[in-house]
Amino acid sequence: MARIVHEGATSVVQDDLTRIVDGASPALARLAGSRLLITGGAGFLGYYLVQSVLRWNRSVPRSDRVRLRVLDNFARGLPSWIASLPSGDALELIRHDITRPLPAGADADYIIHAASIASPTYYRRRPIETIDANVGGLRALLDHARASGIEGLLFMSTSEVYGDPPPEHIPTPETYRGNVSFTGPRACYDESKRFGETLCVNFASQYGLPITIARPFNNYGPGLKLTDRRVIADFARDVLAGRDVTIFSSGTPTRTFCYVSDAVVGYLDILTRGRPGEAYNIGIDEPEISMFDLAQKMVVHAADLFGYDGRAVRSSSPDADYLVDNPSRRRPDITKARVELGYDPQIQLDDGLRRTLVWYREHQDGADA
Ligand SMILES: NC(=O)c1ccc[n+]([C@@H]2O[C@H](COP(=O)([O-])OP(=O)(O)OC[C@H]3O[C@@H](n4cnc5c(N)ncnc54)[C@H](O)[C@@H]3O)[C@@H](O)[C@H]2O)c1
Repeated sequence: MARIVHEGATSVVQDDLTRIVDGASPALARLAGSRLLITGGAGFLGYYLVQSVLRWNRSVPRSDRVRLRVLDNFARGLPSWIASLPSGDALELIRHDITRPLPAGADADYIIHAASIASPTYYRRRPIETIDANVGGLRALLDHARASGIEGLLFMSTSEVYGDPPPEHIPTPETYRGNVSFTGPRACYDESKRFGETLCVNFASQYGLPITIARPFNNYGPGLKLTDRRVIADFARDVLAGRDVTIFSSGTPTRTFCYVSDAVVGYLDILTRGRPGEAYNIGIDEPEISMFDLAQKMVVHAADLFGYDGRAVRSSSPDADYLVDNPSRRRPDITKARVELGYDPQIQLDDGLRRTLVWYREHQDGADA
């Protein structure tokens, strides 16, 4: 069981970075001296992907440093953490929309394509941009990788490629083909990720390129901005505003929640050691918890940490499409990543929620965009 940390946001982040750099040390050693391009690196997962590489860089000789380039159009705002990172030969931050032709200097040995609006509230507002990032933007990167050569390209797909699996496919393995609407309000995201995977698999097989796919299942933790409108950020926002924690459903849908530091180790392992053309579930397999029980946990931890005295309540969202095609259960089978990559998530939900609440208390900034 991991240590419960709640002294302050800085200690949470430093502890998480230590865990990532330790857990991903074989992957980071493979990246030594290479050029790594992260698209969408200003987003939630970018928060630890970028900072863990920079942390590792500080511990190795200059010649081993990873030359990191982050490409992002800041569609969801320019976060203060990335704006204040020291720029230099180890980090280059480029404002660029991945749906536009690639800028000069996009050459890289490794690429993580994470540029895509990921929050359902926001991708439903910008469906075409979402499709373009996952299909056209990905295609541009694949063509570039083919032309200039690549050591590894990781496409950040999603557990949403499975849609709403029936009970016999839960926990869901990579072999499950999905139950997905191709015209509903979430289709811009789900279907563009599915077609993105098709592109990756075929570029890997036809051109022999080392292209891999991650399917993240509900990651959460520091770096996910309070206004993101994914569920844990929403609950934390309620807590910090001193109002009741509001569940915009019956409270019965279930999920497993994977703390971000565990997930990031998985992504770096897939990038450097995943089998070409293969997809890997990255998440945690238990506990599978209902939204109501999750809200209750937030209430209990917030009461303990901050003296919060609200409660969990059910309501309906003002957004009519909020629950349309929302999966009723989501739980990954992570055997493939465990067996092939040694992936082994460590942070249990209660510990992760406390870390997250502590981080949010000190990070309530971030435009509602
Ligand atoms: N976090 C999760 O639990 C989760 C789950 C499933 C899939 N994913 C996938 O992982 C990736 C990263 O997720 P996240 O949670 O960090 O998302 P995020 O929304 O926090 O960050 C995405 C970043 O991509 C950028 N972006 C969006 N469109 C862009 C474009 N056209 N050009 C350049 N930059 C663009 C945004 O500005 C943002 O900084 C996404 O592809 C997402 O679909 C994440």
